[in-house]
Amino acid sequence: MKRTLGPQNSVHPTPIPLVMSGVGEEASMLAVAWVMPAGSKPPALALIIGKRHHTWDLIERCGEFTVNFAPARLYREVDYCGVVSGRDHDKVADSGLTLVESSVVAPPMIAECPYNHECRLVAEYELPTGSHMVIGEVVQSHANEDTLNAEGTRVDVAHMDPLVYATGNREYYRLGERLDAAYSCGKALVKE
Ligand SMILES: Cc1cc2nc3c(=O)[nH]c(=O)nc-3n(C[C@H](O)[C@H](O)[C@H](O)COP(=O)(O)O)c2cc1C
Repeated sequence: MKRTLGPQNSVHPTPIPLVMSGVGEEASMLAVAWVMPAGSKPPALALIIGKRHHTWDLIERCGEFTVNFAPARLYREVDYCGVVSGRDHDKVADSGLTLVESSVVAPPMIAECPYNHECRLVAEYELPTGSHMVIGEVVQSHANEDTLNAEGTRVDVAHMDPLVYATGNREYYRLGERLDAAYSCGKALVKE
């Protein structure tokens, strides 16, 4: 039996990367759950980033940012970056996270995050829903070697152990078991 809940916008679960911008001492980051791929040629990401956030000011000024996917064990550090502002706190120092130079963009990446995208701001939109959408072209991506698949070409989430966020109860999780191969296991149900 279904229970009607009223209109909700939760998507269960979501990734929760740390989006970093700014250069040198001013580099800072926030947690973003509203994120999705937005293009493949060139690769692009769409993120909802409130204009009130300090990190948006940094992105607007420098036109570049990095998107850093944390492992599950760093849930407290990610949450910290989502509950205080870089206007009032030195989030890099307080979180204990380590910054590493990006290869193309000026803002750094986060060493402890095993998967990182370097992005250039290519568009921003005020959506009719009232949200502020940021589109970043991905100009380079990096992954820790021990998170890669056997071919060394893609991240294997079984190795990466990514942090995921359950919007409904506002809780952090890690992934469970692998079930099957996508774009193929469903073919077993195709009727000739
Ligand atoms: C679990 C979680 C998810 C969040 N998702 C988003 C998001 O998708 N977009 C956004 O603008 N803020 C999001 N936030 C809020 C910002 O991360 C938060 O307000 C942060 O303190 C802003 O920091 P800043 O002012 O240093 O940029 C989220 C926070 C948490 C804890």
